[in-house]
Amino acid sequence: MSETYDVVIIGAGPGGYNCAIRAGQLGLKTACIEMRDTLGGTCLNVGCIPSKALLHASEMYSAAQNEFAGMGIKIGKLDLDLKQMMAQKDEAVGGLTKGVEFLLKKNKVDQIMGKGRIVGPGKVEVTAKDGSKSTLETKNIVIATGSEPTSLPGIEVDEERVVTNTGALKLKSVPKTLILIGAGVIGLEMGCVWSRLGADVHVVEYLDRILPPADKEISTQARKIFEKQGLTFHFGQKVTGVEKLKTKLKLSMEPAAGGDSQTLDADVVIVAVGRRPYTEGLGLENVGGKTDKRGVIETTDHFKVAPGVWAIGDAVAGPMLAHKAEDDGTAVAELIAGKAGHVNYDLVPSVVYTSPEVAWVGKTEEELKAAGVAYVKGKFPFMANSRARTNHQTEGFVKILADKATDKILGVHMLGVGVGEMIGEICVAMEFGAASEDIARTCHAHPTLSEATRQAAMGVEGWTMQM
Ligand code: NAI
Repeated sequence: MSETYDVVIIGAGPGGYNCAIRAGQLGLKTACIEMRDTLGGTCLNVGCIPSKALLHASEMYSAAQNEFAGMGIKIGKLDLDLKQMMAQKDEAVGGLTKGVEFLLKKNKVDQIMGKGRIVGPGKVEVTAKDGSKSTLETKNIVIATGSEPTSLPGIEVDEERVVTNTGALKLKSVPKTLILIGAGVIGLEMGCVWSRLGADVHVVEYLDRILPPADKEISTQARKIFEKQGLTFHFGQKVTGVEKLKTKLKLSMEPAAGGDSQTLDADVVIVAVGRRPYTEGLGLENVGGKTDKRGVIETTDHFKVAPGVWAIGDAVAGPMLAHKAEDDGTAVAELIAGKAGHVNYDLVPSVVYTSPEVAWVGKTEEELKAAGVAYVKGKFPFMANSRARTNHQTEGFVKILADKATDKILGVHMLGVGVGEMIGEICVAMEFGAASEDIARTCHAHPTLSEATRQAAMGVEGWTMQM
């Protein structure tokens, strides 16, 4: 006998599980379906969380190797225990996926393991691992199926030698030579991890810069820092294939602008050229739902696909980021409960967890110029920040862009250790429509890295004091 739910959510990633928790809090009878063995989606299982565990551990390893002696810390012979590094990562993932399970239970959400398929309005069929099928009846369906990595023609991913983010997080040994295809977020984060652990890392990028959506001044300086750390970039190159030989991989590439092709040898190739929505076998057609050419589910009027069908997160338009999916999920649960769910897509922050980190929110200088908006820039280098100096982490800067006429903050771009945490202050300020002067006149603790933000804000009106 099938039950009738208020909401059935397909997918338990950051979009789906946050939607489920909020729906549960609002008293809606909710079920959340997941086809993986564990909850948490790409983010918790093979994305944000395991990559941060490896980024942190490899950063410690690199600090022990390169920075401890200068700070007066003597250690014996340094050694890498990759198996233990992977185990601590798996432990973090395991603990957090269990945490999601606990939160669903606490909020009375039914957790249903299997693959969900929409079979008609208000009907979701679930196929369990053993092949058994059941059908859930519901007033609302929320599609939160996320995304999957894209590859390139001529490249066969095997998750052993030619890998996506999934395989890149569980290599069994440090490759001697590693090639990353794509100088985007995954390319840089994974490149940094394996370079710190000893790999010779090459990054092949189609465009002429790293992190294409970032502010150009930031991406140019970040590139120089990563080059200094040992990453080699090959810009303006189109990868045409990866040949798998017995002992090595041969990557072929040709200049994007035309010209002679060349090859690079590697032990491992990571493909990181973006992701596409995962909608395979979802049964969207059974409720009249549509996708665009890239597979993005079309929605109208706040996440609506069809009457009683909603879609969120990576499956719909917007940045493919866990925190954007979380906000979508919360908004949809609130809309279903008759509240005013809303997401401000202009203020979704971006963070790249390299060392130093890259973080930004709002418009880049290039976007403001293209839109003909008159702006003033305030900039402050970490080299002049006392806390950065005592920590010997002086690379990077904070840049604040404010409207020339009103002083309203339009965009903030940061490069530096810890800026992923610092961007939160800006998100709050910008949500409240702050002017740069609001930040400049707000007392910030001394000595902290966040004083660089304040000094950059002072710089908008030309009164930076610590430089
Ligand atoms: P991405 O979109 O960040 O970067 C892909 C890069 O590949 C771009 O620079 C692009 O120009 C390049 N590219 C595309 N085709 C190419 C080709 N044929 N040859 C060479 N280069 C090519 O995608 P990525 O790194 O795969 O990440 C996927 C998604 O996951 C993104 O939406 C990203 O935002 C998200 N993510 C976010 C993280 C974070 O917020 N810290 C961490 C990891 C992933």
